Amino acid sequence: MTLAQVPSQMTAVVLDSYSGVEGLRVEQHPVPKPGKDEVLVKVAASPINPSDLAYLAGQYGFKNPPPVIPGGEGSGTVVAVGPGMMGRYFLGKRVACLSQGTGSGSWAEYVVVSAKGGALPLDQSVSLEQGAMSFVNPLTAYAFLEITKKGGHKTIVLTAAASALGQMVNRLGRSEGVQIINVVRREAQVDLLKQQGATVVLNSNEADFDQKLRDVCHQTEAHLAFDAVAGSMTRQLLDALPQNSKVTVYSCLSREAVQAGADHIIFEGKAVEGFWLGPWMTGKNIIQILLMWRRAQKLMAKELKSEIRARYPFQDAKKAVQEYQNQMTGGKILLRPNQ
Ligand SMILES: NC(=O)c1ccc[n+]([C@@H]2O[C@H](COP(=O)([O-])OP(=O)(O)OC[C@H]3O[C@@H](n4cnc5c(N)ncnc54)[C@H](OP(=O)(O)O)[C@@H]3O)[C@@H](O)[C@H]2O)c1
Repeated sequence: MTLAQVPSQMTAVVLDSYSGVEGLRVEQHPVPKPGKDEVLVKVAASPINPSDLAYLAGQYGFKNPPPVIPGGEGSGTVVAVGPGMMGRYFLGKRVACLSQGTGSGSWAEYVVVSAKGGALPLDQSVSLEQGAMSFVNPLTAYAFLEITKKGGHKTIVLTAAASALGQMVNRLGRSEGVQIINVVRREAQVDLLKQQGATVVLNSNEADFDQKLRDVCHQTEAHLAFDAVAGSMTRQLLDALPQNSKVTVYSCLSREAVQAGADHIIFEGKAVEGFWLGPWMTGKNIIQILLMWRRAQKLMAKELKSEIRARYPFQDAKKAVQEYQNQMTGGKILLRPNQ
């Protein structure tokens, strides 16, 4: 079932080999057709996320045989649906879409996603640009706060805290009475978070970082850290946290293996575990997901808002990815169709 005239060809960003930005080119590509319980979304915007960079380098949680169209999330309007009741519900609706794992992503004028979890309706108060960033980071911020509260934690440590996600966790944490010990790697990031109201922000490149982190973790009795950096940062967190604490590694920005000492896990009762949004969400039923989605949509104007630094047409994807790689803090870069 098709709502409007859908062309046969589209502009798409294509990755020829898992070699990072060098593997990217832009080409005319056949518009994909939705299958059973799938929808075709006319893409309005799609961000460049750290997970996209990892995917381009072949270092993400899934890999499809190249050539592939990257782009993990985006937004747009459903213009065609395949057979099945689920798809029909979405026809004509503005949606946020998640295309991770399919090999046919949202850095293109059209994307096919599953009607069962790959598309969710946007609240009328949410713009298509904010909607393009409403899946990955907002729901992860939501998850972190839920895990924190369920575990009875009043204070958490957060690394790479000046990220878009980090800023969301800070705003959400403040509104829910959870204290955040922020760890960043540059002084400008300390200033950024403090200007936004954060009270504890430590720079991991300062000489006395380890001592300061240990002191504040013990003073506040922080027993949970969310770590996006991995490598030696995980060990520093394990060193700093009191006995019986946990480090939840949710990314690997350092591209280094997680470090932990045998003493941490044997004698100090400390643990390291992973977090990935997809499997976390599959632990929820459809009602829980819809309630979480509705609540997150209402928070998109403030707590879960993403700043936008720049917008590029798909044709300039290579330049956009390079610009993002050079500096990630300071707002998202959106890829969009030519308008
Ligand atoms: N596991 C999951 O399900 C899940 C879901 C959502 C997000 N995430 C992860 O959450 C993190 C934040 O995502 P985002 O979209 O909010 O990112 P973002 O806004 O693009 O910002 C990335 C941040 O990471 C910092 N950074 C990059 N490399 C670093 C390193 N080696 N050491 C310390 N800091 C580093 C950047 O600082 P500079 O400006 O100094 O480069 C920047 O502040 C990412 O790692 C992402 O993969 C994971």
